[in-house]
Amino acid sequence: MPFDREGKWSAPTAKVSYGKGERKLVERLEADLRAHMEAAKPRRYQHSLSVALTAERMAVAYGVDPCQARAAGILHDWDKVLSPTEQIARAQELGVDLGVDPMLVQPLLHGMTAARHLPERYPEPPDRIWQAIDRHTIGHADMTQLDMVVFVADGIEPLRRDVAAIHEVRVLVDEHAPLEDVYWTSFYHGVSYVIDTERYLYPGTLDIYNELALRRRAVKD
Ligand SMILES: [Fe+2]
Ligand SMILES: [Fe+2]
Repeated sequence: MPFDREGKWSAPTAKVSYGKGERKLVERLEADLRAHMEAAKPRRYQHSLSVALTAERMAVAYGVDPCQARAAGILHDWDKVLSPTEQIARAQELGVDLGVDPMLVQPLLHGMTAARHLPERYPEPPDRIWQAIDRHTIGHADMTQLDMVVFVADGIEPLRRDVAAIHEVRVLVDEHAPLEDVYWTSFYHGVSYVIDTERYLYPGTLDIYNELALRRRAVKD
């Protein structure tokens, strides 16, 4: 199905069957997200649900646990209800320190902060979902399959416009390209965007870029 007649994209359809506990968890997280975000940030709320569904479908396609992908998608932008100043304050409270002025990296903090405080509220999900949430803004050189699914789903969920960089990643997902290639493409388009728009590039992002680029080069050579 991927692109319909109007060119609107959705992740490859997948049948998911959840156990009772899993279904209950997803319902509870969605209800909590709604109470937390729907009124304050309606578009962010829709985006979160859309990331969750995209991540779930991609998870099925790539043999990752769909419930964990969905749960991480629902919660990944939890701290986006806070203002930029509040996000920085929360990062400081929680000891999130990227080694540079937090004002410069404010847009990157919300995943790391959510991953530090949400496990207290939700002790059930395994640690790997908090890691995927933690890594959804910056990425990492050693991403798990779940990390990659959540990272990519965040960038290509259907509510995002089908601009060239996003289109390319969507096509890769539709073609079932290796997840490492899909993640790499999504990641470097993110880096390119920062450079093209002449924004501050966090040095940690450059380190990840270099590590991945060298690794990929070594495989090719
Ligand atoms: Fe985010
Ligand atoms: Fe997001």
